[in-house]
Amino acid sequence: MLFGHIQEALQYIQTRTDFQPRYGIILGTGLSGLAAEIEAVAAIDYRDVPHFPVSTVQSHKGNLVFGMLAGQPVVAMAGRFHYYEGYTAKEITFPVRVLKFLGIERLFISNAAGSTNPDIEAGDIVFIRDHINTQPDNPLRGPNDERLGPRFPDMLHAYDRALNARGLEIARRHGIRAHEGVYLALQGPNLETPAEYRYFHIIGADLVGMSTVPEVLVARHMGLPVLALSVATNKCYPIEEIRETTVEEVIAVAQSAEPKMRQIVTGLLEELG
Ligand code: HPA
Repeated sequence: MLFGHIQEALQYIQTRTDFQPRYGIILGTGLSGLAAEIEAVAAIDYRDVPHFPVSTVQSHKGNLVFGMLAGQPVVAMAGRFHYYEGYTAKEITFPVRVLKFLGIERLFISNAAGSTNPDIEAGDIVFIRDHINTQPDNPLRGPNDERLGPRFPDMLHAYDRALNARGLEIARRHGIRAHEGVYLALQGPNLETPAEYRYFHIIGADLVGMSTVPEVLVARHMGLPVLALSVATNKCYPIEEIRETTVEEVIAVAQSAEPKMRQIVTGLLEELG
């Protein structure tokens, strides 16, 4: 069924554009402005694509943008889906399956996250090097279709080390404060209590957020290399530095860090060719 749905979505998209993207980009909270940098040849509303979920969150538009970015053919998801909106992990990740079948060779993911590492300040960029998944649903749960990937995908190399190294070097050249870190995925939608932030710090999280991991699991299931970038939007550790946080503040900090994200992503695309 999943395989058939992917084919139907693919066929519809191919009636709208024959553009061949090599890179997929998922734009996170407050970071959808990068879509405007793309020299777009087509934009397809999620609502028109068979079996695509439709985004409900403020600041998330829902369309696929095809075109050239830094000289490379890309498709961007402007608007992503979250578990807290009520979707299953399978629904959240369906577009990633479709992007793989459209022919992308690498997936870039961005998000906004809280920092549980005292050295990571609000506005800093973090290249995710590993994750801890606490979300209660898994997109790979249920019968496995071997045409998509293996039953038990390995997660030793969930995040591409070589891409992170290149990205960090680009950040350094641009004078951007950047780190590597472990992202812990939560179901949301509430933010965390001080005791929870402290616990996540203790178990090894540098960042906490409500997205990304389902998409990474599905990308890796299909053998797609992943680069994931977070903007740290609020400090969550040590406890004395936690402030009340609103979604408007998260979006504002993410938006102000967007030029850094753009420099890193376009720098990587130029280098990778
Ligand atoms: N917790 C969870 N998700 C988040 C946070 C946070 O503090 N900040 C941005 N996304």
